[in-house]
Amino acid sequence: MYKIVEKRTLAPLTTWFLVEAPLVAKRHKPGQFVLVRVCEGGERFPLTIVDSDKETGTIALVSQEVGKSTGLLAKVEEGEFLLDVAGPLGKPTDIHQFGRVVCVAGGIGAAPLFPIARGMKNVGNDVTVILGARNEELMILREELETVCHALRIATDDGSVGFHGFVSQLLDERIQSGESYDHAVAIGPLPMMEAVCKVTGKYNIPTIVSLNPVMVDGTGMCGGCRVKVHGETLFACVDGPEFDGLGVDFASLSHRLKMYHKQEQCSLQRVAKEGA
Ligand SMILES: Cc1cc2nc3c(=O)[nH]c(=O)nc-3n(C[C@H](O)[C@H](O)[C@H](O)COP(=O)(O)OP(=O)(O)OC[C@H]3O[C@@H](n4cnc5c(N)ncnc54)[C@H](O)[C@@H]3O)c2cc1C
Ligand code: FES
Repeated sequence: MYKIVEKRTLAPLTTWFLVEAPLVAKRHKPGQFVLVRVCEGGERFPLTIVDSDKETGTIALVSQEVGKSTGLLAKVEEGEFLLDVAGPLGKPTDIHQFGRVVCVAGGIGAAPLFPIARGMKNVGNDVTVILGARNEELMILREELETVCHALRIATDDGSVGFHGFVSQLLDERIQSGESYDHAVAIGPLPMMEAVCKVTGKYNIPTIVSLNPVMVDGTGMCGGCRVKVHGETLFACVDGPEFDGLGVDFASLSHRLKMYHKQEQCSLQRVAKEGA
């Protein structure tokens, strides 16, 4: 059992948890995730490890409520326990001196991006973060990200704060106005990562994206998380979750992500009706 020692709301439907998980904290590297099971009978689902502290044996997770499992997690209070927190899983981010690195986050992507931006800065890169959200209220981890980069640029879809438009458009504008980057990392919703890759591809900037296919076992056995990169079928849980964004087949992944929509809706309706 894994105790929630702290919990706070970051934005509507988005919650930050500090969880006691000493073995995970000891081995965590940026880019890795855990499989969480809230309670008996619950599904396992992946959440990125946003931060870890070996001394206190804690890890930080940020969860956006989108369905049954994340809804169950949102109801767990400080002092209560999660049934399983398995990990760290996945390959760590390749962090070394690239030079000028741009880290682009869309929505909940700010959470997985945080340890990566910090790691990139710690090894001596010049780090720009482009942080986007639908509006100012939904923007998360702005202050935290500001501490782990040299320049923070903000974009909102509705223009409530910062650049009025998508992060991909802001990135394009910055490059056109003379900024140059040697390496890019983009994390967020699939269409956002695809749009960023279209921009970085145009300027030949190597780009890493973190993919979010449905994961079941997290061990490379079930094939649920398969993705196509440069024509090769790979498993996001063991070969990723980070991949060369310029080689990702976004269309097939987008199709796979919609496959269980009906079941997910049924599951949500059942929870609303029966509370389980
Ligand atoms: C490597 C990885 C890291 C992730 N990190 C975070 C994070 O830090 N914070 C966060 O809020 N979300 C993260 N996600 C997404 C999160 O796992 C899903 O939002 C969650 O599983 C939804 O489950 P649900 O039952 O609440 O929703 P459902 O109604 O079941 O599904 C809603 C949508 O969530 C996705 N999803 C559902 N089940 C899974 C599953 N088992 N594995 C992956 N995706 C699923 C699907 O796209 C689905 O359409 C991550 C996903 C991956 C693959
Ligand atoms: S989650 Fe089963 S192979 Fe990746």
